[in-house]
Amino acid sequence: MPEIPADRYKSNEFQQLEWQRLWGRVWNMGPRLDELRNPGDYVTHTLGKERLVFVLNKQGEVRGFFNVCRHRGNVLCRRYSGNMKTFYCAFHGWKYDLDGAVTDIPHRERFAELDDPDELEKLNLTPLLVDVWGGWIWFNLNPGAAPLMDFLGEIPEKLAGYQFERATLIDYKTFEFDCNWKTCLDAFNESYHFPALHRQLLPWGNEDAPITLLGLHSMMINEYGVPSPSLEDRETIGAQLEEYLRGQGIDPEMFDGRGLDVRGAVQKHKRKLQNDTHFSYQSLEDGQLTDAYHYLVFPNVHFNCFAEFHVAMRYRPHPSGDPGRMFFDFLMFAPLAPGEDIEPFTYKIAKGGVDTVGDVLEWGVRSFPASDEVLEQDIALLPLVQAGMSSDSFDVLRLGEDESRLGHFHENLMRYIEEK
Ligand code: FES
Ligand SMILES: [Fe+2]
Repeated sequence: MPEIPADRYKSNEFQQLEWQRLWGRVWNMGPRLDELRNPGDYVTHTLGKERLVFVLNKQGEVRGFFNVCRHRGNVLCRRYSGNMKTFYCAFHGWKYDLDGAVTDIPHRERFAELDDPDELEKLNLTPLLVDVWGGWIWFNLNPGAAPLMDFLGEIPEKLAGYQFERATLIDYKTFEFDCNWKTCLDAFNESYHFPALHRQLLPWGNEDAPITLLGLHSMMINEYGVPSPSLEDRETIGAQLEEYLRGQGIDPEMFDGRGLDVRGAVQKHKRKLQNDTHFSYQSLEDGQLTDAYHYLVFPNVHFNCFAEFHVAMRYRPHPSGDPGRMFFDFLMFAPLAPGEDIEPFTYKIAKGGVDTVGDVLEWGVRSFPASDEVLEQDIALLPLVQAGMSSDSFDVLRLGEDESRLGHFHENLMRYIEEK
């Protein structure tokens, strides 16, 4: 039975090692590209203690910087997003252009050494390595890192059918949790917990999910429209399966199949619609029309993909450096129908356990019965798992086969940690 030392979830030393050897080396998913539309549009982001900012320069190119004034370290952009002509530091008024070059230093004659252009150049904002894939801005803190596409490996090809770049970001909320970032990641990285924690999924969701390891990354497939193998009766169409059918556009009154026929019927139904819909049915395989294709992009992003929408979940270390705290980002995407307009979402940082998921999310989780409730169940457990793991009596996590993605994740994590 694979075992994972619990120390990795609770020690300051391990958190430090992660900071030096993991976060500083991997490609990280940053903001959504369509949050930047016009020159001067910017959006801020944090990763652990690092405050970052992404901006469109005058040529319309994405640039990324540490969001830190080079004079005495004040944070430059304080709002989540906005538009600016230049970076302006509120402390002493230094300015930088949208490519990060310092352009204005009040009373510059009082900084004698700045007549030397080399000295002046050192005051430009510190850039990030930036690239774009899937409608996202990705960044790397290591200026010498290998290209993003090498890092992503098979991910772009596997996800191509969903056409991420056509999807609109319709909601984005951050929750602050009292647990390690990996505690939260783990909880969304297996479906072994469905029968115990999410019983309400079983009438229409198959927790027995095939897993594929993809180098650094991994995926699993949860069939939907299939009563769980752990249920005795998989034939009767009960209330939940009826609700599922309705959510998928099939009138249960007109459906004369049995429980195990539902998934195939939904696939056929969507296949028939594929020429008359703005959803990407045409480019998706039959399984993708019904099932949750659930990808981990190492180290900290899940894409849970459905035919009509996808969710991105990102797990970030906390700015305080406390291994027992984290940020959980929940981002909901859907392609909009031609002419469809939606109210822009309001970005918010909520406190998990205080703010309930249903109240915080503006759009909820579409098309499936009781989905907000499922997320609540996951989230309510996290501080308890962290508290239990923090006990001196708890030394290792013990993993079964259904949790092989967790073991695989830790193998990759330790490759980074052990590489000096
Ligand atoms: S800290 Fe920014 S101008 Fe002084
Ligand atoms: Fe869950």
